[in-house]
Amino acid sequence: MTEQTAPYGSGAAPAGATAAPRRRVRIPHLQAMKDRGETWAMLTSYDMYTAQIFDAAGIPVLLVGDSAANNVYGHATSLPVTVDELLPLVRAVSGSVSSSLVLADLPFGSYQESPEQAFRTAARFMKEAGAHAVKLEGGLEMVPQVEKLTRNGIPVMAHIGFTPQSEHQLGGYRVQGRGEAADDLVEQATALEAAGAFGIVLEMVPAEAAHRITEAVTIPTVGIGAGPHCDAQVLVWQDMMGLRTGRMPRFVKQYADLATTMTEAAQAFAADVASGSFPADEHSF
Ligand code: KIV
Repeated sequence: MTEQTAPYGSGAAPAGATAAPRRRVRIPHLQAMKDRGETWAMLTSYDMYTAQIFDAAGIPVLLVGDSAANNVYGHATSLPVTVDELLPLVRAVSGSVSSSLVLADLPFGSYQESPEQAFRTAARFMKEAGAHAVKLEGGLEMVPQVEKLTRNGIPVMAHIGFTPQSEHQLGGYRVQGRGEAADDLVEQATALEAAGAFGIVLEMVPAEAAHRITEAVTIPTVGIGAGPHCDAQVLVWQDMMGLRTGRMPRFVKQYADLATTMTEAAQAFAADVASGSFPADEHSF
């Protein structure tokens, strides 16, 4: 007798996936949504199942963030994660989507040194892991990197405001761009657009500053803790699904409570094993 399902998961389409193939999201589609005034969503993803689920749910962009440092590898900051640790996660996500655009974060230390270093790292994410675009953090100092990548076929999303890779330089998790400092962010955003960036993440920026930036650039802005006026919004999936517990940044809205669901399921399994009610006849051969 043959097995009806693969023993450890098969990479098959998840429940709720639509049968009809959907069009691959490409950068001009993201731009067209801004131009039409349609706000879109981006989520992080670091593995096959979340990639399949978010792709089937119609999330246009999946970010394999360097936040994998915190959310996959258990570090306190995003700094320690390496290119070699992120590449397999990007490969898992890009191999699991049919529609979503897969954006790979360039880890700390893998692009700041020079445009050439940035190109070498970004090319690895595109060639070895199937990324469709890359993201890097920084303002005016990143203009040469963005120019180098975009002139050589690699789409770049920029990331300004609070940039977690610089948290020690910035003195911790702090809102950036309050008061007159908003002018600097507008200058950075317009320079990054001119350099060729196809979008800009605005992290922990006052809503009014993010509004100004969103109006000052023609490319989409993607907010995280940047208020309602951005062209798109991004959240880390473990935060918005309630897999992560404890103190949450103010900008996170929780749409599920996976930590409780999983704790209860684990406890129910352990209780069934202890009582002998699992496995039952239907789980046995
Ligand atoms: O790595 C990440 O998850 C990010 C988002 C917070 C935008 O950069």
